[in-house]
Amino acid sequence: MVVLGLETSCDETGVALYDTQRGLLSEALYSQVAVHAEYGGVVPELASRDHIRKTLPLIDRVLCDACLNKTDIDAVAYTSGPGLLGALIVGATVARSIAAGLGVPSLGVHHMEGHLMAPLLSDEPPGYPFVALLVSGGHTQLIRADAFGDYRLLGESVDDAAGEAFDKTAKLLDLPYPGGPHVAALAQTGDPDRFDFPRPMVKHPGLDFSFSGLKTHIGTCIKQLSDADSLDEQARADVARCFEEAVVDTLLIKCRRALKQEGVSTLVMAGGVSANRRLRERLAEALGKDGVQVIYPAPSLCTDNGAMIAYAGALRLARGERDLESPAVRARWPITELVPPVNGEAA
Ligand code: KG4
Ligand code: ZN
Repeated sequence: MVVLGLETSCDETGVALYDTQRGLLSEALYSQVAVHAEYGGVVPELASRDHIRKTLPLIDRVLCDACLNKTDIDAVAYTSGPGLLGALIVGATVARSIAAGLGVPSLGVHHMEGHLMAPLLSDEPPGYPFVALLVSGGHTQLIRADAFGDYRLLGESVDDAAGEAFDKTAKLLDLPYPGGPHVAALAQTGDPDRFDFPRPMVKHPGLDFSFSGLKTHIGTCIKQLSDADSLDEQARADVARCFEEAVVDTLLIKCRRALKQEGVSTLVMAGGVSANRRLRERLAEALGKDGVQVIYPAPSLCTDNGAMIAYAGALRLARGERDLESPAVRARWPITELVPPVNGEAA
């Protein structure tokens, strides 16, 4: 079964073709970073419009790259949430229109399930059960997965997500949007011992996270440096490095706790922040010593992409799942089906 996957939940148009026999056939990604950069964050209306412009050409491209025709598509999967409403509607409309035109099924996919499944696209996918650390711009979650579709939320951020903390720190350091990769690059030359930023909620029992206080500490630290006229390039790198260490330490402590609590020895990382090199290295090294296998996807599969949606969609379609509800418009609609107003509501 060849599944066309569309991801349009935020600022990336991701399209891919996944074959249940042959694996990933082709994928294409268009990033809207340049569109939103001057605003310092995603502008929803601009995102929707850009998805409209890019989705169809990208579909043509993945078909061409895979040497397939539209008629070779057996089903269409698309991100149906969570995400920006207008952006989601674009993907859903395109997906459902193509599926209707071809007479094949369509299916809305949960964006975070897509991220969760991305590491399984590797040549050596992890077995169940595993604990997943999902760290993206909007979510920080620890999830126990016992089978495909069988998930239990172990903990999550009570305020900012880890990616959001990276993006806000980037803003405080005058770095461009999206901040994560820029903070990570700057941190490479920073001194990890210069500032002692808090590791939020690690002393609290449980598996929830909180990153908003950390941002306040960074803001105060930057202001003090700037007031003392010592916010030079090295100081900025030191802030970035100490911030990154604080986030990585916090995530590591909670992952270790979750694995111990659940008696599970496989950790899967996914979501944009899992592209962070320091996080990948520290988790692999520290948890490796505990006998834990740490699995993370290639960086291109960590951030939003069409492959994860095509793949998660293929797994659900294979179980017989389909979009059920009919679209909000109808080709045939007798006027007699309109319900009369009750109790003299009519004007
Ligand atoms: O999963 P994703 O592409 O989109 C959402 O579903 O949110 O994640 C985007 C987030 C952004 O906050 C971005 O700054 C962060 O992932 N990110 C990183 C890195 N690459 C992307 N954060 C830290 N280090 C990175 N290398
Ligand atoms: Zn995402």
